[in-house]
Amino acid sequence: MKTIIEPFRIKVVEPIRMTTEAERDGLLRAAHFNTFLLRADDVLIDLLTDSGTGAMSAEQWAGVMRGDESYAGASSFFRFQASLRDITGFEHILPTHQGRASERILFQIMAGPGKVVPANAHFDTTRANCEATGARAVNVPIPEAADPRSRHPFKGNIDIPRLEAVIQEAGPANVPMVIVTVTNNTGGGQPVSLENIRAVRALCDRYKIPLVLDACRFAENAWFIKQREPGMSVRSVRSIVREMFDLADGATISAKKDGMVNIGGVLLLRDAGLVQRAGELLILTEGYITYGGLAGRDLEAMAQGFQEVVQEDYLAYRVRTAEYMAERLLKAGVQIIEPAGGHAIYIDAAHFCPHIPPAHFPGQAVVAGLYRTGGIRACEIGSVMFGGTLPDGTPRPAPAMELVRLAFPRRVYTQSHFDYAAESIAELFAKRATLRGIKIIEAPQALRHFTAKFAEM
Ligand code: F0G
Repeated sequence: MKTIIEPFRIKVVEPIRMTTEAERDGLLRAAHFNTFLLRADDVLIDLLTDSGTGAMSAEQWAGVMRGDESYAGASSFFRFQASLRDITGFEHILPTHQGRASERILFQIMAGPGKVVPANAHFDTTRANCEATGARAVNVPIPEAADPRSRHPFKGNIDIPRLEAVIQEAGPANVPMVIVTVTNNTGGGQPVSLENIRAVRALCDRYKIPLVLDACRFAENAWFIKQREPGMSVRSVRSIVREMFDLADGATISAKKDGMVNIGGVLLLRDAGLVQRAGELLILTEGYITYGGLAGRDLEAMAQGFQEVVQEDYLAYRVRTAEYMAERLLKAGVQIIEPAGGHAIYIDAAHFCPHIPPAHFPGQAVVAGLYRTGGIRACEIGSVMFGGTLPDGTPRPAPAMELVRLAFPRRVYTQSHFDYAAESIAELFAKRATLRGIKIIEAPQALRHFTAKFAEM
C-alpha cells in the first residue's frame, strides 16, 4: 500500500522558532517543570492537546467572513443548527463556548449531592464539573482498558456488569445519567463499539436512566467502528455517527476536537424540560441561546467543521497518523497503549521509567525529558492529573496507569514533524535512566496539573 498522504495542501504557514536543548533546560526550570506554564513560542512541536489547536479549512475561513453577528436569531446560528441536526439528528442544539461549559450546564441540571454518575471514563473537566455539584463520578471501563498491551479493538467500552452493579448499589433513582465518552480520551483515545453503546442503552432503558455521550471525538470513534466492528465496513461514517447519537438522550461536545474549530462547544438534549432549564443557565453565564458565548463567525466555522470531520479521506489520514507513530515507538522499544488511539499516543511512563515510583510522578518526568530533549510538549495523564484529594479532603484513588499523552492537532503537522518527534522520543528512551523523579512544590486542590509547580528530585 502507498503512503496515505495528508489530504490537503498548505495555504498559510506559521514559523516554528528553533531552540537548543540548553535553552530549553532553562525554560523548563523557569516554568517549574510544568509544560502548561511554558510559552508556546518556546515549543517546537506542540502535542499538549488536540483541543482547539487544529488548522481550519479555506471553507471555514470563508464562513468566518460570512459570520452574522446579530445578537439574536443570526443566520450563522441557523446554519450551525442545520449542520448539527444533519450530523446528530438532535432537534435541540445549544451552542456553548466549549465542552466544559456544556458539562457544567448538564451536571447543574441533572446531577447534585448524593448522585452517582458512571462512565467508561470521565475526562478531568467532566469529573470536576460532576463533583462540583456534589455528585460522585465513577469509572467502569472494561478490564482490558487498564492493560497497555491488550489489543482489544474497543478498549473504550463500558463494563456492562460493573455498570449494572454500580446502578444497583447506588439505586437507579440516584443515577441521573450514564456517560459514554467517545473516544475514551483518558483511557488512551480508545473507541467504544456500537454494540457496547447499544448494550448501555438497553441497560439504561431497563433502569430508566438517560444515556449521555461525551462526544468530543465522535467521528474518530465512528471511523474505528467502521474499521473494526463486524459488519460495519459497508456503512458510511455518517450513518454510524448518526446511530451513535440516536442511541443517546443527550450529548456534550467540545467542538475544539472533532468540530475542527479553535473554540466552540455544543450541548444536545432531547427532553423539552431539560432544554428549557439548560437554556436558562446558558443565558445566565454563556450568552443568548442563539450564540451561547460565541461570535457568529465561530458558529459558521463549526457548521462547516462538523461536515468536514466525517469525510472519510480525512479520517483515514487522521487515524493513520497515530498508527504510524505507534509503529515507530513500539519499534524503538517504547511501550505505549496499544493499539494507537484516534487523536493521540499514550506512552506508558511506568514502563519508560521503572526506577521512578508513582509518588514521584514518572509521567511528569517523561514530559520534562521530552521537552528538554526534543522541544516537544506533551501532557501527563497519571498521578499528577488524577492524584491529590477530593473536595472533602480524602485522597483520590490511584489511577490505573501512569501515562504521557502526545496529542495530535488536526491538519497541523506533517509527516516529517512526526518523524522528528518519534526520533526525539527514541533518543530520550535510550537515556531514560538519567530521568529523575518529580515533586510538587505548590498545587491547587482541583485540576492541579494545569498550574502546579514542580521540581526535579
Ligand atoms: N471531554 C473530553 C473527552 C475531553 O477530551 C475534553 C477536553 C472535554 C470533555 C472538555 O472540553 O476543553 O472544550 O472544555 N479535552 C482537552 C484535551 C482539553 O486536551 O484532551 P473543553
